Amino acid sequence: MAKKAAIKKAKVRSGSISRTKTAPKIYKGLAGVVTDTTAVSKVMPETNSLTYRGYAVQDLAANCTFEEVAYLILHGELPNRRKLNTFKKKERSQRKLTKAHIDVIAKFPRRAHPMDTIRTAVSYLGTTEVAWGGEPLESDLERAINLLAKIPTMIATDFRFRQGQKRIAPRTDLSMAENFFHMCFGKIPPKKVIRAFDISLILYAEHSFNASTFTGRVITSTRSDIYSAICGAIGALKGPLHGGANEAVMEMMKRIGGSKNAETWLRNAFANKDLVMGFGHRVYKLGDSRVPTMKSCLRDLTEWAGDTKWLEIYEIMENIMVSEKKIHPNLDFPSGPAYYLMGFPINLYTPIFVMARITGWSAHYFEQNADNSLIRPLSAYGGKAQRKVKPLVKRK
Ligand code: COA
Repeated sequence: MAKKAAIKKAKVRSGSISRTKTAPKIYKGLAGVVTDTTAVSKVMPETNSLTYRGYAVQDLAANCTFEEVAYLILHGELPNRRKLNTFKKKERSQRKLTKAHIDVIAKFPRRAHPMDTIRTAVSYLGTTEVAWGGEPLESDLERAINLLAKIPTMIATDFRFRQGQKRIAPRTDLSMAENFFHMCFGKIPPKKVIRAFDISLILYAEHSFNASTFTGRVITSTRSDIYSAICGAIGALKGPLHGGANEAVMEMMKRIGGSKNAETWLRNAFANKDLVMGFGHRVYKLGDSRVPTMKSCLRDLTEWAGDTKWLEIYEIMENIMVSEKKIHPNLDFPSGPAYYLMGFPINLYTPIFVMARITGWSAHYFEQNADNSLIRPLSAYGGKAQRKVKPLVKRK
């Protein structure tokens, strides 16, 4: 009897028989499906709020640096002064790339998208050692901190080479935000700009089971290594329905060109049923909790740069989308023009997202590894009925 029950359970798990007699319910895009628990972050769409390890993201943005938040996400608690200093020292000491790594980056085709080059540069790092899933947390924590330290250097090195310029080596006396500007442009902007950039990293650091994190968790669940999980996550983040939206927002704003065109442009988009980039969210339907903080940074940057055009377009689009369509902006809507005002080329916006999200991805890698179950959903078959092969050649 027990054997019969075990066989039936196995058949249900493998999908060879249905749990019920009726057709299985399909959850397109896994919308509304809860696949596991996480202690890394909590998204509360009913109150438009998001917490990392129990702290509201606005509270973290107002009171912490990205380094403190990275520590929190990776270790589960905010650091005290001593722990933060040790963490910062470690991260700063690992920023440099090897000559072999720099040579790999130098060989990337100039027309490649920086998301493809950062994916490959991370993948290269994975070839420099042997790593497997299921290793002790301490080894993967070391790898995560190494990735956190080196990813900005990989992005900036590739950016310099792409422009035919010499790379700028990282400095150990600068914060992650300051050092990134230094490696890209050879100078560090005023504090206001650095703070806006730092806040954008805090806001981009983690967001529960979003598409790229889930991709990373699927890869982790096969007992593959952290580098493979991160490379897969980078691939998922690139798409304009996910992280690539921050680039798409700025391309869209540039096409609109000025506030006087914004309403007409939007009404044409409605008529053509086009997606308006930077609006909507799979989970938040009443607004994205991170937007007010980033919009306030956008205001500061607008004032600093003396360029009001993008904020004017922002306001018009937001007013119409919210009042007429009830669709709210997501984080990519303010961060696109914010990065533009900071002076970054548009194709660097999603790689910057990678610099931040490496923290969340790594924490989810640890979590999945610690309590693993292979992620393998079922599908309903919708193809041809079973049939026989008509051989081209008769076989004896
Ligand atoms: N522009 C225009 N219409 C949008 C929209 C947008 N950005 N986002 C959602 N909608 C519309 C949908 O077309 C749908 O309309 P319908 O009911 O007439 O078919 C309705 O709003 C509900 O959308 P929904 O299906 O619940 O959205 P989703 O959960 O499948 O998709 C996104 C979420 C993020 C993929 C989607 O909003 C989108 O593509 N946004 C633009 C890209 C973007 O900014 N991505 C970053 C996300 S953080």
